[in-house]
Amino acid sequence: MEKDSIIITSALPYANGELHLGHIVSTYLPADIFARFCRAKGKKVAFVCATDDYGTPILLRSEKEGTNPSDYVEYWNKRDHKDFEDTDIKFDYFSKTSSKENTELTQYFFKKLLENDLIYKNKITQLYCEKDGKFLPDRYVTGECPYCKENEQYSDGCEKCGRVFTNFEVLNPKCIICKTKPVVKNSTHYFFRLSKLSDNLKEWLSNNENLQTNVKNYVINWIEDGLKDWDITRDITWGVPIPLEEAKGQVFYGWFDNHLCYISSTLKYFEQNGLEPKKIWNESEIYHYIGKDIVYHHFLFLPAMRIGLNNEYKLPEFIPTRGHLILQGEKFSKSRGIYIGLREFIDEFPSDYLRYYLARITPYDQSDVNFDWDDFQVKINNELVASIGNFIHRTLTFINSKFEKRIPSPGEMSEVDKKFIEEIKNIPLVTGKFLENNKTDKAIREILSFSDKCNKYFQEKAPWSSNDGNTTLYICANAVLTLGTIISPFIPKASNHLFKQINVENEINWNEAGDIKLESGHEINQAEILFEKIESEKIEKKKSELGQETQ
Ligand code: 2FM
Ligand code: ZN
Repeated sequence: MEKDSIIITSALPYANGELHLGHIVSTYLPADIFARFCRAKGKKVAFVCATDDYGTPILLRSEKEGTNPSDYVEYWNKRDHKDFEDTDIKFDYFSKTSSKENTELTQYFFKKLLENDLIYKNKITQLYCEKDGKFLPDRYVTGECPYCKENEQYSDGCEKCGRVFTNFEVLNPKCIICKTKPVVKNSTHYFFRLSKLSDNLKEWLSNNENLQTNVKNYVINWIEDGLKDWDITRDITWGVPIPLEEAKGQVFYGWFDNHLCYISSTLKYFEQNGLEPKKIWNESEIYHYIGKDIVYHHFLFLPAMRIGLNNEYKLPEFIPTRGHLILQGEKFSKSRGIYIGLREFIDEFPSDYLRYYLARITPYDQSDVNFDWDDFQVKINNELVASIGNFIHRTLTFINSKFEKRIPSPGEMSEVDKKFIEEIKNIPLVTGKFLENNKTDKAIREILSFSDKCNKYFQEKAPWSSNDGNTTLYICANAVLTLGTIISPFIPKASNHLFKQINVENEINWNEAGDIKLESGHEINQAEILFEKIESEKIEKKKSELGQETQ
């Protein structure tokens, strides 16, 4: 976080189905927490996302549901945006890959890459279903992975080993619509010379200290194994049109245009705010948050296309990559009912609980994260309710009832008081260091250990029976104010609620979060419970619902 201006994007959800906890854990929540933290540090932040509207799966789904693809993606764009907002995943700009800006930028990239001799034409033989009278790109074909031999893989990549390939390489191909074996037919396609950029990519990866080492090494291995040129054309009608007369009726592959939407939406956002879009893009620190299943695309295709335009649009400094979500120790799967939709969750529990729990258990690496209902209950009840919530509530109720809602004047400070004030000063620094480095889980553990110290201080000072209750509550009220800021990236609803109770304008400033700012005489409002305990029956019910078909 060296620069003043920070651009944050998170992987674009396909506009063909609801968001679920798997999306939230790896990508959107870490990105939102980081965006909130950066804003609190006084940075200029553009946090941008969009729906990923193109691609064969979307076309297939809209065909199946008897709607046209643009209405179909419009529905999911609105729905996703609403679900994000209700989870306090607060984008500065939310767009779609089918926007005018993105179409134009994609076509611009194509033309430039063509000029720079990074795109060539090639006649290819393609799979074609005679029964359906259609070319069969990507997900129209299933078969066996040519590398690890896993069965029932879509023909654009393998879910098991993570390799990306073409539908021509997949073994024992079948048409997804009618299950017959496709035939081979000719078509002219455009190819991106990924192989030509191997050295540039390797150099960029090796020199970028900010990328996570594991992922980097993984990708460098792929490069060393030899990269294949990349077919960026699809013979379907739904996509960004290829801007050449001779390619009429052909569109770009979704992975050619979707990540460009990071750029087109950010530029649009800047433009709407009267800023110089391209200049700011190139002067900002750029973060692209992703899940580990799309490493290939983000560490190879995305940088290669930007390198291909001679860095006219700067490459990212960071690509924070996290693992998948596991549910009760089992692989997340909608069809098997090992699944929790985001809407379902936030309709039943406060979104802060979800945010707290996921941020608390998700490390900054690619290991998978296990959502466990019992553990969720324990962490909410023992940590959020019994430690953080308890300290805040006992402080504010004490001030309400014993000091007529006014912050008391402190007397002389003892060593214990001074030590506690040091803790207050220190906690935003420690937590902030972890957040700067994307370690949300470690940051939360620090906050928790701080709130434990707060409770201990309150308990030991026993203000109800001592004569320096004024000093204790003066310091505790300030600790509450500090907590209000440092919890804000994680649990923004609770933070807002807390600021209302202490009657302080909700102007979150991390750099001053450790200051003793709340003055004697300041009047607070009625204390209210911030977090309710989760009852066991509710957890048992959720556990019993798992494994049921959800189709
Ligand atoms: O894998 C996915 O869900 C894609 N829709 C992610 C796209 S991210 C990007 F680069 F646009
Ligand atoms: Zn495989």
